Amino acid sequence: MIQYLRNLKNSGLSQKVCLLRLDFNTDDNWRLKASLPTIKFLLKKCRAVVILSHKGRPDGFAQKLSLRPVIADLKKELKKPAVFLPHFRFQEIANLIKSSPQGSLFLLENLRFLKGETENSQVLAEHLAMLGDFYVNDAFAVSHRANASVVAITKFLPSYAGLELEAEIKNLSRVMKNPKKPLVIILGGLKIEDKLGVVKNLKNKAAAFLIGGALTPEILKLKLPKVVWPADFKKDKQVIRDIGPKSAELFCKEILKAKTIVWNGPLGNILDKRFQNGTKRIAQCLSDQSRAFKIIGGGETVMFLKKMKLAQKINFISTGGGAMLDFLAGKKLPGIEALK
Ligand code: 3PG
Repeated sequence: MIQYLRNLKNSGLSQKVCLLRLDFNTDDNWRLKASLPTIKFLLKKCRAVVILSHKGRPDGFAQKLSLRPVIADLKKELKKPAVFLPHFRFQEIANLIKSSPQGSLFLLENLRFLKGETENSQVLAEHLAMLGDFYVNDAFAVSHRANASVVAITKFLPSYAGLELEAEIKNLSRVMKNPKKPLVIILGGLKIEDKLGVVKNLKNKAAAFLIGGALTPEILKLKLPKVVWPADFKKDKQVIRDIGPKSAELFCKEILKAKTIVWNGPLGNILDKRFQNGTKRIAQCLSDQSRAFKIIGGGETVMFLKKMKLAQKINFISTGGGAMLDFLAGKKLPGIEALK
C-alpha cells in the first residue's frame, strides 16, 4: 500500500521538516507547476520544506545544470522566498534548517552532481535523510530511476507519495486497467525500445496504435497487430521526418472514434518547422475530440501542445516521459515500489 500525502497525520507536522523530491529536468517550469499543490500543502503544514531534484546527466559539477535559477521560479509561483543550498555539506545544512523559521523553503543543488545519486547510494541517502523528518516523492518523471533521492532514501524516513504522483498513478492506472473503449495510443519520438513495451503490454486493450516519428520504420518492420499503417511520409535525404497529410487524416479518423486516447512523443522532427505538420494536425484533432478521456505525456509533446495553446483541452498531462512509457509498459517503477 502506498501512503499518500493526504493520509499524512497532521499531529506534530508543524515541528517537522519535509524532504520533497521534485523533477526540474525541463527547460521551463511546467513540472514545477504540476507540483505546486503539493508544495503549498506541505508549506502550510510543516516547519520547513527542503526540495531535492536533479537536472541533466552531469559528470560532476556543471554550472549550466545548477538548480540555482529555479529559486526565481519558486519565488514567482509561491510568492515567498526560497533559500538555495549550493553545496552538500550535510551537517552544515542540517544546522541551518534547524535554526530556520517556521514555513521556510529550501532548494538543494542538483543531486546528480554527486555520483551517489544515480548509484542509489545508501550513504548519500543517509546523509539526505539527516536533513528531514519525512520524505515525499512528487517526481513521477524520475520514478523509473533507482536513484538515491528516489529509492534509497525511503529506507531511512517515513515516505509518502505527493499529490501529483498520486494523480499520475490514478490516471495512468485507469488507462491500463479499465479504459473506456476504444482505446487509441499514439506513439512518436526517438527511442523505439520504450514504445515497443507499451505496444506489447496494451495490445489486447488498445483498438489501434498510431505510430510516427523516428521509430516508424523499425516498428512497421515488426508487423505488430493493431498498428495503423501510415499512408505517406515526409522525407528528407531518404530519412522519414514526419507523417504525411494522408496519414494524419487516417490517424485523425481513429482519434475521433476513440473513448480513451494516450499520446507520448511527437510524430515528426518538430524541432524543424518543416516537419511539424503531422504533430500539429494530430494535436488539433485531439483537441477537437471532446468525448474521449485524453492523456498526453513526454516533454516535447507537452511543450508543443502548450505552445499551440491546446493543452487545456487534455484531461491529464503526465509529467513523465520515460516514466510514463515504463508505467504503460507494465514495468514496476522503482520509485513507486519503494513507497509500498
Ligand atoms: C526525465 O526528464 O525524463 C527525467 O527527469 C529522467 O531523466 P533521466 O532520463 O536523465 O534519468
